[in-house]
Formats: sequence, C-alpha cells, structure tokens
Amino acid sequence: MKLLVTGGAGFIGSNFILYWMKKYPQDQIVNLDSLTYAGNLENLKEIEKNPNYSFIHGDICDLDVVERSMVGVDWVVHFAAESHVDRSIKEPSPFVMTNVIGTHFLLDASLKNRVKKFHHISTDEVYGSLNLSDQSKFNERTNYNPRSPYSASKAGSDHLVRAYNKTYGLPITITNCSNNFGPYQFPEKFIPLAITNILENKKVPVYGDGLYVRDWLYVLDHCHAIDLVLNKGKVGETYLVGGMTNDISNLEVIKKILKIMGKDEGFIEHVKDRLGHDRRYAVDWSKIKNELGWRPLHNFDEWLEKTVEWYKANEKWWKDVKTGAYQEYYKEQYGS
Ligand code: NAD
Ligand code: DAU
Repeated sequence: MKLLVTGGAGFIGSNFILYWMKKYPQDQIVNLDSLTYAGNLENLKEIEKNPNYSFIHGDICDLDVVERSMVGVDWVVHFAAESHVDRSIKEPSPFVMTNVIGTHFLLDASLKNRVKKFHHISTDEVYGSLNLSDQSKFNERTNYNPRSPYSASKAGSDHLVRAYNKTYGLPITITNCSNNFGPYQFPEKFIPLAITNILENKKVPVYGDGLYVRDWLYVLDHCHAIDLVLNKGKVGETYLVGGMTNDISNLEVIKKILKIMGKDEGFIEHVKDRLGHDRRYAVDWSKIKNELGWRPLHNFDEWLEKTVEWYKANEKWWKDVKTGAYQEYYKEQYGS
C-alpha cells in the first residue's frame, strides 16, 4: 500500500506518519509538504532514513508537483492546511489558497490517478459556535456555520471533497475533529504556547474572559480514528472525532498546566479577545464509536501532564521554533 500524506511535517501529520510507520511498516509513505512556518522535518527524524518513507518538498497549489506526487498512490491522507485561526484573521488569503484551491488540485489529481481513497482531515470549527448555557454538541447532521476565515476555508474544502464524491464518484471519507494536543504542536496554539511560555518564565495570554470552551483530543487518539476510518469507514461518509473532556474552559486548562508545573496563577494575563471568538465547541463522537468501535483512550489530565513532560524534555525542539519569524509574529499578535 502506498499513501500520499500531505502536510506530514506539521503537528498532526507528523504524529500520523510516526504512528502509521510503526503500525504498518510494510506500507510506503510519501510526505508532500511545502514546509511553511508550521512544517518541521525534525518531527520525522526517527523515520527519515526508512526506505519506505520519502519526502517531496512542494506546494499542494502547484499542480505539477501534485501530479508527480500521485504516481502509484493508493490512498491520499490530506492534512496540509493553514491551521491557525488568529493568522487567518490577520491574513485570510493563504487560507483560501491552500485550504480551498490546494484541496481542489489534490482532488482533481486524485480523480485522474484513480486513487482508491481520499481521506480529508477537517475540523469541528466548520459547525460554528455553541452556547455556554446548554449541553448541545456538534454531530454529523449539524448545519455548517463557519465564522472565521480559517473555518470558512475548511468548510469550503469539505464541500469540495463531498462534491467530488457525489459528482465524479471519487471514494472519499472525512473526519472533523476537535482541538488536538500533544508532542510537536507548534507553539502558536494555546496549550504549547502556555507550556513553553511558562518554561521561559513568561506570562500566558488568555483571550477575553477565558471562559471559552474547547473539546480536547490527544493527537494519538486522532491518528487512531483516522486509521479506523481509512480501513473500515464507509465511502462518502463523515465522522466526527472528539476528546474525553467534559466542558472545560481555557482558564481551567491553564490552571491545570500551572499546577502540573508548580507555578501560581500570577502567570495568567488576560489580553484583548480574538475577533469573532467562537464560545464553545463540543463533539458528539457516537457515530464513529457505534460504527467503527473508536473511542478516545487518552484522558485529558494524564496526557496533559505527559505533554508538559514532552515539552520539558524537548527544549531544543521548541526553542529552535520560537526564534526569528515566530518572535515577529508574537510581537504583532500580543505586543511586546
Ligand atoms: P499544522 O499547521 O501544524 O501543519 C500544517 C502542515 O501543512 C505544515 O507542515 C505545513 O508546512 C503544511 N502546508 C501548509 N500549506 C501547505 C501547502 N500549500 N502545500 C503543502 N503543505 C502545506 O497543522 P495541524 O495542526 O497539524 O493540522 C493538520 C490538519 O488538521 C489541518 O487540515 C487542520 O485544519 C486539521 N485540524 C487541526 C486541528 C488541531 O487542533 N490542530 C483540529 C482539527 C483539524
Ligand atoms: O477545533 C479544532 C481547531 O482547533 C482546529 O481546526 C484548528 O486548526 C486549531 O488551531 C484549533 O483552533 P482554536 O482556535 O480552538 O485553537 P487555539 O489553540 O488557537 O485556541 C484554543 C483556545 O484558546 C481558543 O478559545 C482561543 C484561546 N487562546 C488561544 C491562544 C493562541 C487564548 O486564550 N490565548 C492564546 O494566546
């Protein structure tokens, strides 16, 4: 089996490649990644010399590269995206290019090359925002209601993926998952930003009142869900994937991290809120549980602790990332 993984040098993509190569060592993996600020080949050091792994440095918006990458491919697993909401608010264009146009090029080439499966990684954010005051959750029948340029571009990509199935019969599956956390996550996202700031003795910026709620999913649980959907999922179907947390606010998350790290709440700094900030996400993952037997195995508290340990043990990884362009970004986003 030959898999084309797009965005395999990013957070979830690299965790997926490491997971897959351990579990299915006989498979070949081609990783197509343009190495944006979020792509890091250090994540893949342990398998870079494996003869079943190869890397193509290229953009999914470059049709020639996409065509070349497809040769002999059985399955496409599509992670490549611009993924950070705050950056999409500052500059939406790259989000539309990569997430919509790039996905379109991949779909076209997949159809031409008769790939046997195209799996698209998407997000629960396409469903919009839930109220804090009720217990509702997103499910596969929830209407799309994206509210940021990021989630709108991901919604656009989901629609294209489904259209290629309905119109041309491309065998597709989609997973829409909640907020991932774990090793190799770029420290622009809330959890790694908090942990690495505290390690640097810096405050943690908490947007607005900090009462926003996310549904936290450990990255390996996500990889396992993708594995099940690829191997057992029904063509044309969407599966929602969520974590083990009950509603937990950002403030509660940061307090847990501070407790794990033996620091006091003086590290919390409330800052200006994100524009159009979605209040609450919660995912009903009963479809993938009932149909494919998936459930998250990694509980939040224990794996948050392990994630803190990972960042402590991998200081070089995040210190290398938090230089140059990152410092510029941080200054622009948060002030000095
Ligand atoms: P990431 O930002 O860490 O990594 C994205 C990767 O895609 C990087 O390696 C980058 O170099 C690559 N890339 C970006 N533009 C590209 C282009 N034009 N051509 C080729 N490669 C390109 O993202 P992530 O957090 O690993 O997310 C992966 C996927 O999962 C995305 O599709 C994202 O929308 C989705 N998702 C993420 C989360 C989360 O919590 N991180 C949750 C739900 C869904
Ligand atoms: O829900 C899935 C989505 O989760 C993915 O599709 C996105 O790719 C991923 O980036 C993530 O989006 P969020 O916007 O929810 O994640 P982020 O880590 O940026 O923020 C999590 C919460 O923390 C959110 O309510 C905003 C808040 N936050 C974030 C940052 C970066 C802060 O309070 N301060 C911060 O500095």
